Amino acid sequence: MKSIVYDFSNMMAEQLGQEQGIRREEIDAVAERARSAVRNVQRKRGSGWLRWFGLPYQQENVGAIKQLAVEMASRYHNCIVLGIGGSALGSIALRSALLHPWHNTLPDEKRPGPRLFVLDNVDPDWLAGFFDIIDLEDSCFNVISKSGSTAETMSQFLLFRDALQERLGDSYVQRMVITTDAGKGSLRPLVQQEGYSSFVVPDGVGGRFSVLSSVGLFPAAVAGIDIDALLAGAAQADAETQAEDIWQNRALLYAVSQWLSYRRGKPISVMMPYSQALRDVADWYRQLWAESLGKRLNRTGQEIFAGPTPVKALGVTDQHSQVQLYIEGPYDKVITFLRVERFAHELSMPRWTTGQSGVDYLGEHSFNELFQAEGDATALVLTEARRANGSFILPELNAHTLGQLLFTLEVATAYSGELYDIDAFDQPGVEAGKIATYALLGRSGYEKRRQEIEKARANATRFAI
Ligand code: PA5
Repeated sequence: MKSIVYDFSNMMAEQLGQEQGIRREEIDAVAERARSAVRNVQRKRGSGWLRWFGLPYQQENVGAIKQLAVEMASRYHNCIVLGIGGSALGSIALRSALLHPWHNTLPDEKRPGPRLFVLDNVDPDWLAGFFDIIDLEDSCFNVISKSGSTAETMSQFLLFRDALQERLGDSYVQRMVITTDAGKGSLRPLVQQEGYSSFVVPDGVGGRFSVLSSVGLFPAAVAGIDIDALLAGAAQADAETQAEDIWQNRALLYAVSQWLSYRRGKPISVMMPYSQALRDVADWYRQLWAESLGKRLNRTGQEIFAGPTPVKALGVTDQHSQVQLYIEGPYDKVITFLRVERFAHELSMPRWTTGQSGVDYLGEHSFNELFQAEGDATALVLTEARRANGSFILPELNAHTLGQLLFTLEVATAYSGELYDIDAFDQPGVEAGKIATYALLGRSGYEKRRQEIEKARANATRFAI
């Protein structure tokens, strides 16, 4: 299958000039550091927190996922995922990228699988409103939490379990699938106690690297996505991103060009798909990049407060919003476009000769030409304004090319961790927020933290009008 491409021409001094662009010699100068980044990551692949490297090859697990997915899809018209962060963003990205753009609103006979809802918030109005549109009796549920204790997911679990039990009695158990750690957390014991079907989030697969595990694959398979092709694409990207030569490895070049940009005063990394279907891949990437690279300490424990800030934009929508800032604001951003060469549909533009110059030329073109021209135009004016921009180009959008893209970005993240000299696989900031929530809500074991918070609150001066 044709590979995706990372085009970094508009990151380079040849296009942007010496002040804003990266010189080839700059890349060559860090080639040894890049080489050891690859060596370190590839040497550890399959162990510790790098066990997600094995996900493209997990055949046995995939068989079990597909079997239960087919069963659920044949029984229910809705699949509802309860999860947050890494336990939700992958499913959301797969849904938008690979299902019909209006999947959930298609009539039953036109949908390849159940509607897929991913509930990744606990806003009471939003959750309460969901009960107005969903037929619970025609729904299966996938509760996903690696830690098995995240407050948002556990509270949603309580809510839907209660509602289901009230309507269906104990038989509700048959429609609830739990995806969690093999041993840790509160969910695994409940699987045993109540008899839910379950999948394991494998050891060494952090939430943001879990899209190709049962976390992302089961909901995708229920909704009708070709998970074999997704994994095959990831395997292809794995093979293509192991080269130690920086000029031969697109994940490494992406990581290095982003890191060099960061070091030359561009701490903001914008991902801008020119594909409505890829909009949530940009969301998934925000978590991957932010949680992995935003760190206080380096690997020897020194405070460095490192990390690029990932921002999401969407072509063409944000051409009429954020792009003004990108072209004329500070030189503090690097923009990565996601481009698709061939769309599934060719949509022609009706011709109408009106004598109005703002209308008549459009009939000469298709929507495909318009959309591509808009992407080209944005890259062009950014480059003219000497703004760093690169593009991942997918020959077409399908499960295989998406698997390539997701895996390439995951590998680039691992290489980036080496370049920044940080642990790309922990998330102490996220954990701190979870712990504070548990303390505020009186979870046992968090009493000391609660006292600290209460004391700090009592001494805080409030400014509000
Ligand atoms: O990437 C991460 O580790 C986090 O974003 C988690 O995915 C998120 O906090 C949810 O955690 P869990 O799956 O343990 O409920």
